[in-house]
Amino acid sequence: MVIDGKAIAEQIKENVRERVLSHYIIGENAPKLACILVGEDKASKVYVKSKIKACDECGFGSLVINLDENATKEELINVINFLNKDSSISGILVQLPLPNSLERYRNEIINAISPDKDVDCLTDENLGKLYSGKGLIAPCTATGIIKIIESVNYNLEGKDVVVVGRSLLVGKPVSTLLQNNNATVTTCHSYTKNLQEKIDKAELLIVAVGKPKMIKSVKKGSFVIDVGINRIEDKLVGDVDFDKVSTEAKFITPVPGGVGPLTVACLLENTLKLHENNLQKIENNYENNEKITSLKEY
Ligand code: GUN
Repeated sequence: MVIDGKAIAEQIKENVRERVLSHYIIGENAPKLACILVGEDKASKVYVKSKIKACDECGFGSLVINLDENATKEELINVINFLNKDSSISGILVQLPLPNSLERYRNEIINAISPDKDVDCLTDENLGKLYSGKGLIAPCTATGIIKIIESVNYNLEGKDVVVVGRSLLVGKPVSTLLQNNNATVTTCHSYTKNLQEKIDKAELLIVAVGKPKMIKSVKKGSFVIDVGINRIEDKLVGDVDFDKVSTEAKFITPVPGGVGPLTVACLLENTLKLHENNLQKIENNYENNEKITSLKEY
């Protein structure tokens, strides 16, 4: 069965849209996402455009800040600080990858985002909460992968799962989410020995490495989730050789139309969750201040 990621994403977006329309006034107090795009990376421009389009569809406000390829770390952090303080902004993301000159400062740049507005869930504080199982949100693609697994009522308990890739955006967080769901997870990477041997035993295989058609064979009857998006001669292909592997797998996600749409849908869901959480915090603060004021009066 080929899983229709687009249909799952549409359902999530519809649900987000209904929650926004029933609780907020568009253009007034609805969630608002700020995307920072540094440089001219073509793929990043396409991704940011699709994020903004999805914001429009769900009644969110949005804002794109384009910074020059040669922007300095300080300039970028200044923009982040400005957005942190803007109470109309619910969520902030810095589109990755950064230009080469900024990539070595990535950790410092990401951690400049207020954890309350970190929609990608990439700050150290939010990752710490994710790893301790107390996070409000998780990184968008990792969350999307869990939604795909849930869409076919696949029970993760005790399953042997192999994740190929250990990136901050996908491999590491999805391995954590799977463990939190009681799967037995093997996270593989470029130093892993006998990779195919491990893949052959995986009941669920998740591949996020960025190598076109790298996976040629899997365990018969397994579940295969392909996170790769590689452009080859103007065509998009995954990290899994779809034609070969789809004859062996029971469930498989296509590229395009698999995980990709879920990343955007989960970004909107994350933005709405942060928006609700930030409003709740303001309300709690207000109530506490009222109590303090009345105590002073007493
Ligand atoms: N680049 C590729 N995927 C993502 C993502 O989920 N968030 C950000 N910020 N950049 C990305």
